[in-house]
Amino acid sequence: MRTETGTDTDRAVKLLKADSLVAIPTETVYGLAGNALSAVAVEKIYAAKNRPRFNPLILHVHTLEKAAAYAHFHPVEHRLAEVFMPGSLTLLLDKKPAVPDLITAGSAQVAIRIPAHPLTLDLLQRLPFPLAAPSANPSGYISPSTAAHVLDGLNGKIPYILDGGPARAGLESTIVRWNEAEHHFIIYRKGTITAEDISHATGGLPVIFVPPGTSITTAGQLKSHYAPDKPLLMGRFAELAASLPLTLRAGVITLIPATLPERFVCFPLSKEGNLAEAASRLFAVLRQVDADADIDIIIAEPVPDTGIGMAINDRLQRARHSMKEL
Ligand code: TXA
Ligand code: MG
Repeated sequence: MRTETGTDTDRAVKLLKADSLVAIPTETVYGLAGNALSAVAVEKIYAAKNRPRFNPLILHVHTLEKAAAYAHFHPVEHRLAEVFMPGSLTLLLDKKPAVPDLITAGSAQVAIRIPAHPLTLDLLQRLPFPLAAPSANPSGYISPSTAAHVLDGLNGKIPYILDGGPARAGLESTIVRWNEAEHHFIIYRKGTITAEDISHATGGLPVIFVPPGTSITTAGQLKSHYAPDKPLLMGRFAELAASLPLTLRAGVITLIPATLPERFVCFPLSKEGNLAEAASRLFAVLRQVDADADIDIIIAEPVPDTGIGMAINDRLQRARHSMKEL
């Protein structure tokens, strides 16, 4: 199959109506979209990504009214949706019967999101069905934040990539569930919408983070996500560099530019240490270091663990290898 890239939404509509797949731009990362109500299209998504069938898919719609056809909203959840949708938030909600089990991998909950990208909102508005869309990368590799990243991973496997430019936020959406019994929100996957943002929008309701490794099928919890092919060590450069074999050339990902000794190349995420900019560039930088023929190994320094920094550190932790694995 030939994979083409363009900005033709008519073509995307036609393909999706015929159960074909289209990579779509969102403000977080590119998604690999298919008709969420078609078993044929959903099966193609799992196959193209080589994704385990037990890992459920996010349902994408363009309005809250549409979302209400597929899930039950508690008033608190509705409030959060009003504030952050369209946007980089995914809500885990009790599903309605209209959602096929194939999308939720049998779970009684469905993940719903309204992406904040004009091309994709236009596309959704012109379709008589919602879109199932995981990140448009082969399962286990780094998520794509540009159309070129999508092509790198899925060339020949899908007919069309709708190019909406580089993703603005650059990290996958924050996944949240309201726990009515305990009266708090649970963040299952950290993103650019932070715990403080969620608490602030709901008059100070408490927000907790799910303990890592809670369950393999739980949102964003698969361990080997976002991983580059090259080994990645996470920690302070000064400490890690000392124990590295002298023959290895390392690319060092830092928040701000740093001067490093020879045989080390610095890949700063932001000129001035801006965390939002760092988040938007993270996946592109990881891919760049991974593809650099002069580099054997990646060292990533943690960024300050506050606000969006927590989501950046989370992705680096998932991409990391331990010294023992080298
Ligand atoms: O920003 C995003 O969320 C992007 C764009 C394309 O919308 N999508 C995305 O999808 O990151 P994906 O499939 O790569 O990650 C979705 C995560 C997975 O970890 C999956 O296990 C979890 O959400 N998930 C989806 N549906 C779920 C459900 N019903 N229950 C629990 N977890 C769910
Ligand atoms: Mg993904």
